[in-house]
Amino acid sequence: MIERVLAIETSCDDTSVAVVRHDGWVESVVSADQDLQHQPFGGVVPEIASRNHTLQLLPAAELALEKANLTFKDIGGIAVTSRPGLIGSLMVGVVTAKTLAAALNLPLIGVNHLEAHLLAPFLRDAQYAPPEGFAPPYLALAISGGHTQIYLVRAFGDYEVLGRTIDDAAGEAFDKFAKMVGLGFPGGAKVDKLAKSGDQKAFPFPRPFLDDARLDFSFSGLKTAALRILQKMSPAEIEARKADLCASYQEAIVDCLVGKFDQALSVNDDITRAVLTGGVSANSRLREATEAWARKRRVQLVVPPLRYCTDNAAMVGYAGILRLNRGEKSDQSLAPLAQSEF
Ligand code: KG4
Ligand code: ZN
Repeated sequence: MIERVLAIETSCDDTSVAVVRHDGWVESVVSADQDLQHQPFGGVVPEIASRNHTLQLLPAAELALEKANLTFKDIGGIAVTSRPGLIGSLMVGVVTAKTLAAALNLPLIGVNHLEAHLLAPFLRDAQYAPPEGFAPPYLALAISGGHTQIYLVRAFGDYEVLGRTIDDAAGEAFDKFAKMVGLGFPGGAKVDKLAKSGDQKAFPFPRPFLDDARLDFSFSGLKTAALRILQKMSPAEIEARKADLCASYQEAIVDCLVGKFDQALSVNDDITRAVLTGGVSANSRLREATEAWARKRRVQLVVPPLRYCTDNAAMVGYAGILRLNRGEKSDQSLAPLAQSEF
């Protein structure tokens, strides 16, 4: 059995390296976001993201080992996010992982980034452990700047997508709105903060698909509705009503997310556990609404700490070591994939 792996995550704009044990214990994780580099462009610029990964990745790997008091000799395998994501960003991680695996003669495993998000609740460290006995089957809502999916996790490796966004991701919906009201990028957290002092009912935003039996999401109409409302307001008016705008817009997203989670539970009524994961799970109103929903529906809800919800290599390491210890392995033909099903 492999004791620990070095894991690499570079699927979008976070460079992250972790050392993770087979039981999910995170020995170290070193991450560098690139918000400062992408901010002037109001979004992630793929070319800039991959260039920064090449600069940051090896120093992050060295630091991750140092923080864990280990050397490459203590590592039993290399795990790397190979799909889905920005192709240039993934490429940097995959090439680095393949080089390390070949140079150190270690087994290599390519990891699906979404599977990694789904397994984040099982990570553990000095401050966090999953609730006693928490295990599949569970429903999971994976929401970030790049993805928005509802899954049924039946067992390790057995995942069904119950619903997904047909256009923008939830985080993207937050970010685009934040940009429209002049809050900068990435703006989700700023919308969250401002919304606390606003009126959720001040503006009528649509709740796309909420009356539909499909478990999919659509957020692009929400963005258009916001644009129409803003076009009718003067800059001074927008400024004065920013908190109300944020609260109303956020509430529409939260209603859609929690509403679909609820529908997913109704069609899988033998399920008693749920997970909220991805960067958008930092949203305070969403947490509050999901917790209230879980209490009402008697669901055991796990929201991993934010450090394991946002893109990080620890979750990649855990997914990777589980697969390696089941006898799976990638070889030197491992190639990044921008898209991947499930
Ligand atoms: O998982 P993540 O760090 O990176 C990926 O996109 O994969 O998620 C980042 C996203 C951004 O869209 C950001 O605006 C959003 O999560 N976000 C939030 C909050 N904090 C981060 N959205 C709403 N409320 C927040 N508090
Ligand atoms: Zn992600």
